[in-house]
Amino acid sequence: MDRFVIEGGAELRGEVEVSGAKNAALPILAATILADGECRLEGIPRLRDLTTMLKILETLGVEAGWQDDGSLLTRVVDPSLTRAPYELVKTMRASICVLGPLLGRRGRAEVSFPGGCVIGPRPVDLHLAGLEALGARIRVEGGYIEAERRAGGGLGRGDREIYLGGPFGPTVTGTANVLSAAVLTPGTTVIQSAACEPEVIDLASFLRAMGADIHGIGSPTLTVRGVERLVGGTWRVIPDRIEAGTLLCAAAVTRGDVTVGNVEPSHLTAPLALLARMGIPVRRRGERALHVAGGERPRPVDVVTLPYPGFPTDLQAQFMAVLSVAAGNSFVTEKIYPERFIHVPELQRMGARIRKEGPTAIVEGVERLSGCPVMASDLRASAALVVAGLAARGTTTVERVYHIDRGYERIEEKLAALGARIERRAG
Ligand code: EPZ
Repeated sequence: MDRFVIEGGAELRGEVEVSGAKNAALPILAATILADGECRLEGIPRLRDLTTMLKILETLGVEAGWQDDGSLLTRVVDPSLTRAPYELVKTMRASICVLGPLLGRRGRAEVSFPGGCVIGPRPVDLHLAGLEALGARIRVEGGYIEAERRAGGGLGRGDREIYLGGPFGPTVTGTANVLSAAVLTPGTTVIQSAACEPEVIDLASFLRAMGADIHGIGSPTLTVRGVERLVGGTWRVIPDRIEAGTLLCAAAVTRGDVTVGNVEPSHLTAPLALLARMGIPVRRRGERALHVAGGERPRPVDVVTLPYPGFPTDLQAQFMAVLSVAAGNSFVTEKIYPERFIHVPELQRMGARIRKEGPTAIVEGVERLSGCPVMASDLRASAALVVAGLAARGTTTVERVYHIDRGYERIEEKLAALGARIERRAG
């Protein structure tokens, strides 16, 4: 298993480009199941999770091939296949994204029930209730979610309203699933409390580009009029706002001077406002780049994770790494996944002073962290350990970096090009 060896203390300097968004690319790829024609997707990041999605699509009769220009061409070759097997689904929860497209286009889906997750409980009850409200019959059998059209016709008859709000807000991939099934369902579907994340907007816009009739994109109410077929199309996936936020944290924690390119600044309003409150100014460089120049020790802040446009849970760990060297006490409250604090014990090993009280972590900033061996245990927690290692005194070894490879494209190469002393070592 690969690990990263990081010699902390180097200021990051230079320019870096963000890749396409993993969490937009996954449901968009799944939605190619719906297309009658070819789809050309641009900006798909080369990540472990995307490779898993391509394998699942292959088992579902979708052929995909990388082109010389870096785009990905997909085409349905066998629409009779409907089973997403346990062996693949168990390695990636986002495999659930094929459920809606399979049901919508092929009238049937068997998707292995996603298992446990280190970031806390991750139910799919809202996905299933939403698809049932659309007219599907759903049962769980032998570890698989089996969904099919009710006998005697297409999904649902007439118009319907589906509410997708849960105890922690709307569901992102649940919205993707219900929307992807609704676009080919006869009648009008109104989805209430739809997630408004940029990744959901990207999926909805892709579906519309293929011929879907969707109104209210970007709002909590999506109105979908079922169409008979979707043709293929060309689509460029949005830049990854979480990678952008992670790189800004890396630049800020080393008090460097970095321009982060290929960003959509409007997707980063909450993280940028937080950085400003921390005394870390980030300025726009043209339409698609952000420039951060540190210098001061970060100021402490209170932050609460919330559904978009609130502060994203996927940046909570990375910001906590920065706040662990702030000049004072910060309160970090997790409202999406109240148990998503697996990075805390590892940051503590590096000398961070963090106390947990329920869904809140109280972070008492220290002058400097100190490097040591730490263990990556999930994608964003590992990113936080890399951020912490860049600023720590001495050597930090991050074990099990396959977690980080799930969601960051060549992160060590991007950081090294900015002057970070980071190396990948095998074994
Ligand atoms: C998406 O997961 C992202 N994954 C996650 O990113 C991200 O952390 C999360 O949204 C929140 O922003 C992808 O897009 C592939 P949810 P998702 O359903 O859709 C509860 C990363 O690091 N809930 O929006 O699975 C749930 O427990 C990953 O890239 C229900 O109660 O998250 C949570 O508290 C990790 N019932 C809240 O809703 C359900 O049926 C939001 O979860 C579904 C969710």
